Amino acid sequence: MKTAFGIALLLFSFAASAVDPVKPLEDADVDVFDSDSVRRGAGFFANYCMGCHSIKQIRYSRIAKDFELSEDTMRREFMFGKVKVHDYLETAMSKADGESAFGVAPPDLSLVIRARGADWVYSYLKGFYVDPKRPLGTNNLVSPDVAMPNVLWALQGLQEPVIKKIDGTDTVVDVRLVKKGQMSPKEFDQVLTDMVNFLAYVSEPSKLQRLPLGKYVIFFLVVLAVIMYRLKKEYWKKIH
Ligand code: HEC
Repeated sequence: MKTAFGIALLLFSFAASAVDPVKPLEDADVDVFDSDSVRRGAGFFANYCMGCHSIKQIRYSRIAKDFELSEDTMRREFMFGKVKVHDYLETAMSKADGESAFGVAPPDLSLVIRARGADWVYSYLKGFYVDPKRPLGTNNLVSPDVAMPNVLWALQGLQEPVIKKIDGTDTVVDVRLVKKGQMSPKEFDQVLTDMVNFLAYVSEPSKLQRLPLGKYVIFFLVVLAVIMYRLKKEYWKKIH
């Protein structure tokens, strides 16, 4: 009885510590094999993010190869300006300009999904809200006092913080849409999914080859196991 009570208490304490008043991260539902989504994500990235952020670990030519895209298609969708196919995804913004404009240089996003996780990046991009106290008039639910401006506000609309008093201090626990953007919340979520899929792909392009290859390897091992089993039976026949 005592043990049961102890276990119940333990479980309860776990549950209690797991309850965070701030909204948990949203599920990004990543799928790097959804090539249409990754392509759209690349387009959004080129239009809305590359002014500040680079992805220095990948070349346009790698994307072309992985998704079987012609140079024309790439130039139409996300390869803008004078860039060449073998270029990396560089931003025109120098580190010094970034620092003087925002206080911190916008980081390279090649590995951001591995460093932060897809759910974090998804929730971060969705978590900007209006905050007149910040220099750029905007703050973020997931990354408080972040230096990045809310670059997607025209699509998303404007969000306001939901504030609750926790242990005597005002804490932002959620955000809510107060002014509609060009897109419905559902359409906007799809934009973020596309962008996160693209960032997840660039963080590990070889996944596209690795996972399908894994299936062949398993298949090979199963076939090998059957052959070995039969062989074993054959050998043991003579010994019995
Ligand atoms: C006007 C410049 C600018 C644009 C455009 C911009 N960002 Fe940022 N971004 C920044 C700055 C500056 C930071 C660093 C913020 C900080 O550390 O406080 C940042 C940080 C980030 C981070 C957090 C990285 C980390 O690990 O903390 C992510 C993710 C990110 N940006 C994604 C994006 C995406 C996706 C887009 C396009 C929709 C975008 N950014 C567009 C300036 C920009």
